[in-house]
Amino acid sequence: MFDKIGVIGGGMIGGVLCQEIPKRRLARTLALVDIAPPDMAKGKCLDIAAGSSVVGFDASYDAGKGYEVLKDCQLIINTAGVPRKPKPDGTLPTREELLSINLRITNAVGEGINENCPKAIVISIANPLDAIVYRLSQILGRNRDTLFGMAGVLDSARYRYFVAEAAGVSVENVEALVLGGHGDTMVPIRSACRIAGMPVNLFLNDETLTAIENRTRKAGGEVVKLLGTGSAFVSPAWSALEMAEAIIYDKKKVLAVSARCEGEYGVDGLFLGVPAIVGASGMEKVIEIPLTEGEKKLLGVSIEAVKKTAAEVDSIVASL
Ligand code: APR
Repeated sequence: MFDKIGVIGGGMIGGVLCQEIPKRRLARTLALVDIAPPDMAKGKCLDIAAGSSVVGFDASYDAGKGYEVLKDCQLIINTAGVPRKPKPDGTLPTREELLSINLRITNAVGEGINENCPKAIVISIANPLDAIVYRLSQILGRNRDTLFGMAGVLDSARYRYFVAEAAGVSVENVEALVLGGHGDTMVPIRSACRIAGMPVNLFLNDETLTAIENRTRKAGGEVVKLLGTGSAFVSPAWSALEMAEAIIYDKKKVLAVSARCEGEYGVDGLFLGVPAIVGASGMEKVIEIPLTEGEKKLLGVSIEAVKKTAAEVDSIVASL
């Protein structure tokens, strides 16, 4: 158990995190910051606290609109951002407009962390994932072990679920990895997919696996379309909590995370979805795995997309 964990952004994903953190007894104090008026963060925490006697957990809460509630947090999970929705004039913001709004928010988030809990390990979920975690790393100026992004756990979980469903086996039997950027170029690694330790090809043919991999790449969009408003929120929160538990309990768990590569996979200084060991000090080691020629090629395409996003961030930040 940690003394204090902070959640930045108490919307759909942040809301699940705030329920689960005290319920799973991950922290004695839960901090929540959200700028939404009149004081949404306080309201969410009061709601959870009011139900705590029914579920049976004790926790204290530090919630509000200002980042000072994050004082002395040991772990931060960042979900702050705005989704793509029509502007007051009815038109949709361009990708660039949306990115610049979210980068402004990220600037405030980074400063809030630096001022109040500079030693906290930071897991960032906010989208566009690759851009936000890259910008946060510029502001926080940390070693790579204490700042990383959550995308790979979720993308891999989706792949695992689709494989389990098609093979007619338990999701618990399926191991899978999705690497690269968190977008259409992500790379499900078929050569690393196993069912109870056996190669996935023993259970599913190439055609089925290709369809599953394509569905995995677009799984976030599939949920968006079905929900009507908003995006997936339960599975992203659970995925971030798997990372948080690996840190809190020093599990040394191998997870796909968005980590700043320092030479691994031929990438230097950019965040890429890679397998890594996650433990008490955060992202402790990036693991380089052998890939097939086809997978290497796809990862190359994904790396190019991540590089393009980073260049876009640099140019927008320079103009803010
Ligand atoms: N500081 C703190 N909170 C902020 C800030 C800020 N500067 N700006 C916005 N927020 C809050 C909003 O008020 C909102 O409550 O962030 C919250 C985001 O919540 P939702 O809009 O419900 O989004 P959610 O579905 O939770 O997703 C959060 O994770 O997966 C990504 O694409 C997703 O970027 C999005 C993020």
